[in-house]
Formats: sequence, structure tokens, C-alpha cells
Amino acid sequence: MFKVNDNYLKLPGSYLFSTIAKKVNAFTAANPDKKIIRLGIGDVTQPLSESVISSLHIAVDEMADAKTFRGYAPDLGYEFLRNAIAENDYKMRGCEIYPDEIFVSDGAKCDSGNIQEIFAADTRIAVCDPVYPVYVDSNVMAGRCGDYDESKGTWSNVIYMPCTAENNYAPELPKETPDVIYLCFPNNPTGSAITKDELQRWVDYANKNKALIIYDAAYEAYISEGDVPHSVYECEGARTCAIELHSFSKNAGFTGVRLGYTVVPKDLKCGDVSLNSLWARRHSTKYNGAPYIVQRAGEAVYSEKGKKEIKELVAYYMKNASYILNGLKEAGYTVSGGVNAPYIWLKTPDNMTSWEFFDYLLEKANVVGTPGSGFGPSGEGYFRLTAFGNYENTVEAVDRIKRL
Ligand SMILES: Cc1ncc(COP(=O)(O)O)c(C=O)c1O
Repeated sequence: MFKVNDNYLKLPGSYLFSTIAKKVNAFTAANPDKKIIRLGIGDVTQPLSESVISSLHIAVDEMADAKTFRGYAPDLGYEFLRNAIAENDYKMRGCEIYPDEIFVSDGAKCDSGNIQEIFAADTRIAVCDPVYPVYVDSNVMAGRCGDYDESKGTWSNVIYMPCTAENNYAPELPKETPDVIYLCFPNNPTGSAITKDELQRWVDYANKNKALIIYDAAYEAYISEGDVPHSVYECEGARTCAIELHSFSKNAGFTGVRLGYTVVPKDLKCGDVSLNSLWARRHSTKYNGAPYIVQRAGEAVYSEKGKKEIKELVAYYMKNASYILNGLKEAGYTVSGGVNAPYIWLKTPDNMTSWEFFDYLLEKANVVGTPGSGFGPSGEGYFRLTAFGNYENTVEAVDRIKRL
């Protein structure tokens, strides 16, 4: 008789975005004349850049000719892309990362969910609270997180590092020592960033305690301040304690195109075992590569023209971010984020819960955001707005909120 992996049954339903959709649908049905503006989910709205589109076209034509047709991609990804990544994302920032330490994939979500497979079943993880839910849920599926306490919204075997206004949304070093620490900066959902000195403390802590950092740099392109590191490998000693995840979704708008990469340095070892070899084994056994045409599109992101276009795209969204940030400040809200990240994190007014504020904003301003409590218990009393909308809608949404 077959049996299911009953770790899956422990997962509470992922109610966040389905509940939002249900509430918005019900509101629209009751108020068909109202124009709803969505500043909720983290999906981009602007089209792919010219250089990306033209690379896609050329690569598609190559696939139509037997002489230039490509089948399966090399296991780690095409060298042209890994070389461009190593040069632009690492060497030019003074980081020592080589092309054979870069694993090209179809995005950071898969990698952030899959990476836990190479760790022991009794690995203890630490996460920020609030957090991008994939890190915890993928470890729950693997049976590592213990039991879920519905009243607290926490797992018994997970170390939570609260990130609230009190600590400026920066996690403190945990009291219990974890084996694997998930860090994401610039952060989703809080929009907070970490300075190089702060990140160095984490790297030193990990090396000292033989812990490993999984550093999610999906929003690196949004960094605007000089002392905020773009990569964990800017810190000394990170090659022996950190894996880094990257995405082409937020910088280049590849949410529907799908491309990302993971860096596993060769110095990263558990005893004699190389994590680079383990991840290479996993990658070659379970994954057959991002499409050639998409990897060519990724290469275009690193061309001179591509880099300029990406900057413009990021600037477009960051203009939205500062409009939201400043507008809400003027309206008297306590807001943060939005400087090194496309997310604005606000304290709900009048002690409303996150969901109460969601309903209030939907009904009174017809604006949709994301309740902070959906990202973890420390997100209760907070609310996330994204800068990924188009500018006109963003301005209208903020102006409506200001008029409340
Ligand atoms: C922190 C974080 N990591 C990873 C991802 C997923 O990136 P990708 O589109 O490359 O799968 C997201 C998407 O919202 C994210 O917020």
C-alpha cells in the first residue's frame, strides 16, 4: 500500500494569497464599479528590456537551424552565462567566485526550496520572522521542523529570529546555535537591508559555530546605499560558510521567463565532503537545465546595453517605492523599507491587525496589499506594499490612502 509523505499533512494551508484573492473577488462582485489597485504580490509589471528581447529572438532563430540548434544544456549551465555572472556579479565587486561554483537554474524559488536536500535530516534551521515562506515550508516537507503550533504560528524545531521595529528589522544572533541560517537581504517582506559590517558578524558567527548561511540575494539590484553588500562573498570568510541564491526575476523582469543561479563555493566543506560536489550531484540527477534561449537572454542582462536597461527598470520601480514611502509618511504612517528594496513595510494604524487593515484598505481605498502576519507571527500588526505596479496606479493608490 502506498503512503504519502505525511510531513506534507503538517503544513497549514497556504491561505495568504488565496484568502487575498477570495476577499478581492468578493469585493469586486459586490462593487463592480470600483477600480481596484493591486500593490500586493511581488510580481513585476514592466516588459522585458530591448537587449533581452533581441537576444531571445536571435536564440529562437538559432533553434530553427540544425547547425545552431541546442539540446540539453550543460549541467551547471552554459559557460557564456556562468562567465558573465562570475565577471559581473562577483569579480567586479571584488568577490572571489569562479564559474564552476555557479549553478544556473530556473529561479531562486526552486533553489531555495531544494537546497535543504543536501543537509542531514536532523539539521536545525534558523529563519527571520517574518520570512519568505519557502525556506520553512521546504524544510517542513523534509520532516525537519517538528510540530506546528497554530496559536503561535510557529514550528517547534525552528529557531525564529524576530525582525521588528524594535531591532530595526535586523535579526539578532540566535541564542541557540542553528546548523543552517537563512538570511535574505534586501529583505522580503520588510524591505530592510543589512550593512556589510552587520553581515560580517553573521559570517564570523557561522564560521565560528560551523553553521551554514543560505543567503538569498534576489533583491540585490535594488540596493542604493553604499555600505549595503550586494553579495555575502563581499564578507571575509564567506567562502567557507555561505551559499548564495540569485534570481533574474526582480532585476530583469524574468518572473515569467524563469532564470536564477546558486553559488556553492568549493571551500564549503562538511568534514571532507564538498558541498559543491553534493549540489552538482543533485543538480545533474534531478535537473535538466534552464532553456538555452533563456540563458542567452540572461547573458544579455550583463551586456553594456543590458546593464543600462536593467538600471532603468530598477529605477522605475524605485520611483514607485519612494512615492509610496514618502506619501505614507506624509499621511502619518510609520513606514520602512523602500530604499534598498521594492517593498514598503508599514505599521498598521490604531492597533489594527494586519487583516483588519487589509479589509480597511480594500473597502475604503480599493487598494490591495499583503498582511504582514502572512509572513510569520512577528509580521502581525504590519502590512506590505510593493513597488512593482505601474507608476500611474501607484500614485493613485497612495493618493487614495492619503485621503482616508
Ligand atoms: C526572497 C525571495 N527569494 C526568491 C524569490 C523567487 O524568485 P524566482 O522568481 O527567481 O523564483 C522571491 C520571489 O518573490 C523572493 O521574494
